Amino acid sequence: MNSNPHHNFPRPLITALQMAQHVVVLTGAGISAESGIPTFREAQTGLWAQYDPQELATPQAFRQNPHLVWEWYAWRRNLVARAKPNPGHLALAVMEKRVPQFTLITQNVDGLHQRAGSQNIVELHGNITRTKCFEDGRIVTEWAENGEIPPRCPRCGGLLRPDVVWFGERLPVNVLRTAVSTAQSGDIFLAIGASAIVQPAASLPLEAVRRGKITIEINPSPTPITPSMHYPLSGPSGRILPALVQAAWP
Ligand code: OAD
Repeated sequence: MNSNPHHNFPRPLITALQMAQHVVVLTGAGISAESGIPTFREAQTGLWAQYDPQELATPQAFRQNPHLVWEWYAWRRNLVARAKPNPGHLALAVMEKRVPQFTLITQNVDGLHQRAGSQNIVELHGNITRTKCFEDGRIVTEWAENGEIPPRCPRCGGLLRPDVVWFGERLPVNVLRTAVSTAQSGDIFLAIGASAIVQPAASLPLEAVRRGKITIEINPSPTPITPSMHYPLSGPSGRILPALVQAAWP
């Protein structure tokens, strides 16, 4: 019997979760949508409606208009600071406690998984709350607030930028290596709220498929990987994840 009357998950899926030794999860912007953080491929609203985030999140954009890019990230940082983890983030923190080994790989830079209580997190694209020097990439924690936007690096005078991976930039080698080997070694792989078109993150679920892992996707819309998943679950993660955790570990 399914313990949750609102969701009828296939029994083999629930059994697989209960038996899993190592659950690997990949999350994208979709898991934070229900916390009020707009995803990258949704139209923006308000002040930023005229810009395409994919055109702001690049080194070229920063070179051309550092003021604009810094201000956009300042706005996102402010959104994130006011946002709260939603039931999807919280359910993943619970899942981590229920399985022997759990790795959460995230494309998100918002830190909401940490705030929800998740522990073992691999941040693929950095973190919006950290700042680094655009010239040498070194992390900067303090700088003079003299009204200059962006502020400047206290060491070299270079412009400061958020410590996130932009389109056209490489992921840190060790982070990517960890993510790939984790996707290969877990026995269940869940892809949640990721459009699965941004590489190299999009290759992780396919790596799990190639290795014969049990694969689950949670997303209200189909993605390029949907046809390859054993269990494509269609719907918002803030609803499906708590129900899935409740069904597997009542
Ligand atoms: P995208 O903005 O590309 O895709 C968001 C995905 O979330 C889509 O597949 C939506 O269908 C899905 N989604 C929307 N609402 C959802 C909900 N309530 N529950 C579950 N899923 C939902 O986000 P990412 O795949 O994370 O990188 O994008 C990848 C990268 O593109 C980001 O990390 C960022 C961005 O540019 C960089 O900044 C380099």
